[in-house]
Amino acid sequence: MDFKQVVTEHLKQVIPDMSESEIEQLIEVPPNPEMGDYSFPCFKLAKLYRKSPNQIAEDLAKQISVTDSIESVSNMGGYINFVVNKLLLATKVISNVLREGDNYGKCNYGQNRNVVVEYSSPNIAKPFHIGHIRSTAIGHAIDRIYEFIGFNTISVNHLGDYGTQFGKLIVAIRRWGDREEIAKNPINELLKLYTRFHDEAEEDPSLEDEAREVFHQLEEKTDQDVVDFWQWIRDVSMAEFNRVYKLLGIEYDSWAGESFYSDKMPAIVEHLEKMDLLKESQGAQIVDLEEFNMPPALIKKKDGSTLYITRDLAASKYRKDHYDFFKNIYVVGSPQELHFKQWKKVHELSGYDWANDCIHVAFGTISLEDGVLSTRKGRVVVLEDVLRKSIEKTKEIIQQKNPNLENLDKVAEQVGVGAIVFQELSNSRIKDYTFSWDRALTFEGETGPYTQYTHARCCSLLERGKADLSEEIDYSILAKNMDAINVIKRIDTFNEVLMRSANKYEPHHLTRFVLDVCQAFNKFYHDNPILSAKEEEKRAYLALVKCTKIVIKNALWILGMEAPEKM
Ligand code: ARG
Repeated sequence: MDFKQVVTEHLKQVIPDMSESEIEQLIEVPPNPEMGDYSFPCFKLAKLYRKSPNQIAEDLAKQISVTDSIESVSNMGGYINFVVNKLLLATKVISNVLREGDNYGKCNYGQNRNVVVEYSSPNIAKPFHIGHIRSTAIGHAIDRIYEFIGFNTISVNHLGDYGTQFGKLIVAIRRWGDREEIAKNPINELLKLYTRFHDEAEEDPSLEDEAREVFHQLEEKTDQDVVDFWQWIRDVSMAEFNRVYKLLGIEYDSWAGESFYSDKMPAIVEHLEKMDLLKESQGAQIVDLEEFNMPPALIKKKDGSTLYITRDLAASKYRKDHYDFFKNIYVVGSPQELHFKQWKKVHELSGYDWANDCIHVAFGTISLEDGVLSTRKGRVVVLEDVLRKSIEKTKEIIQQKNPNLENLDKVAEQVGVGAIVFQELSNSRIKDYTFSWDRALTFEGETGPYTQYTHARCCSLLERGKADLSEEIDYSILAKNMDAINVIKRIDTFNEVLMRSANKYEPHHLTRFVLDVCQAFNKFYHDNPILSAKEEEKRAYLALVKCTKIVIKNALWILGMEAPEKM
């Protein structure tokens, strides 16, 4: 149990009208330590108790008794202020972190239950662009957050590798494509062909029929040549995507994309029929959702071909059958809000109550300075270019600052990629934002490189200090040092922050946490000579350095970032 939880429990005993999590969320760490280590604002209680916040704080403070962990309780200006036993705090936190090491922060909340996390899921034959960093980085972090708190996570890439557009693409390749050219620069060439198809189809609508026919052949697998074509498009696209996933350190447990469900959709359609949910509308099969104020879910087109939503219905059913998930999480942009609402509603109507365990984790849109991203209009920033430029710039900076660094290329990659990922995870996910090269390539201030640098600084101190931390540590040295206590208090909240990030599907709580730890640590580092301190002091200080290093490394791992020891 961390100290914030201890404070929460004390408060809970005197405020039965609030839940523990409500109380915990209100607890603050006062900016001025003289006001205590933790404080609780009573403003929200004023309405409930019909008294002034001042009065409430005074009354409640009197009722809370001191314990081993809490040294004193007082009130000031509507706040209840807690002073904790610093020696106990330092002893508990430091010894715990040193003992747990790489496992510090983990818990068994998940009890090994299965959580499916679907993220990234780009469409084949289309560029993997800057917009995709969102689902990719947020999803990867959520996957690891859930893993850290004890769930068995299954990461899924629901690759967009199916649909009528592949009929069009195959027709275009057959007519105008040069396979060798395509192989040289697949995504670009395929995109050109796709655009050409649309231009030519305006003149000659029979192309559309041809494309429909080809997709039909693909769905029915009646023409091997068509299937091979599609497979080839998938392979060349995957090779491009995999380069990016490799840079990001992402590996999937499942690549079951849309095509994977081609033979699982008939059962879905049958079930909908059995439940009497399917209706015919202009030759197509739909589920009417008017009653729920939504447009109908289009399940099958007039020509019998299936749709995006049909595949999503099949996918979630498959995941339920296959993984019996506790939760099934979709990290997909907010423009697909309606799609996920319709899909969930259809499942609910089908009698699948587990639909409520499926969660759409939405996020805002990225636009470019000259407008929205548009592959058709050629307004696109390729994600791999952003990562490579960031790596390049990192390399230049390191070459200036630390020209003798070993493994320069590897470290530049870890830091350059980390910068982009950290930035992506720094804001609440639902916010829209505009991509800017300048911002992407800024490494000063509250950035990923700053946290990685702080980690490397810890490593260097530990290497130079050579303290034997298995010997007894005098924790009173840390307890007396306000700078040290501030670092310890931050470190102590790691698990609570993780739980909050998990419950809200918000990795940005965690980026904030790492920054706070780093800032508190750097203050300690600047104001307290560590390596020149006397032996006992030095050992206590280095124990704190070690704990800081551990917690930064664990947090960065969860965020999907490396923590190089030197940079
Ligand atoms: N491929 C889709 C796109 O790029 C995202 C897939 C989202 N996942 C899902 N299960 N529908 O827009």
